[in-house]
Amino acid sequence: MAEGSAQKARIAILISGRGSNMIALADAVRGGSIPNAEVAIVISDQPNAAGLDQAKKRRLETLVIERRGRTREEHDRQIVAELRERKIDLVCLAGYMRVLSSEFINTYRGRILNIHPSLLPSFPGLNAQKQALDEGATISGCTVHYVDETLDGGPIIVQRDVPVHEGDTVESLSERILIEEHKLYPEAVKRVLEQIE
Ligand code: GRF
Repeated sequence: MAEGSAQKARIAILISGRGSNMIALADAVRGGSIPNAEVAIVISDQPNAAGLDQAKKRRLETLVIERRGRTREEHDRQIVAELRERKIDLVCLAGYMRVLSSEFINTYRGRILNIHPSLLPSFPGLNAQKQALDEGATISGCTVHYVDETLDGGPIIVQRDVPVHEGDTVESLSERILIEEHKLYPEAVKRVLEQIE
């Protein structure tokens, strides 16, 4: 992509856990529904993240970068150095449980995406599904947005509604939302890459 070439867009995916959205993105790239792209690296801040094994199974390069008592800035500087080395075009946060430093955000502004399990601006932050249930929402959903300095408050790219059913638990609602997340994130990445290509 960069500078109008026919090169593939290089995507980095940052995870902290299960990695099901990372898998959805990687499979969409491999299956061609995100065209002209490759997943160049999967980075986890957690050495035991289950998603790492899934990434390895798909023969993706993986890297663990733990914070280990460093400041957010120091940790992020190491991540950014790895991203720069691999000439990353787009950073996708997929269950990455850390807030990014402003240095990281500035380096990749407009090229960092996140997926969140609610219809933002409703229910930002942790436990979005529980927040929706506690609030008595009848519709929730998921959002893919650009990452800026606010908590889950960056410009929205795309959203999808998911109904809340009577008797829903956090688990049942999360599961229903997750099914849509796995479709929505690849769609959003495809759309964003079309704009920055
Ligand atoms: C997803 O619900 C995502 O919206 C949120 O964290 C969860 C990550 O799940 N940011 P997974 O690791 O992608 O399976």
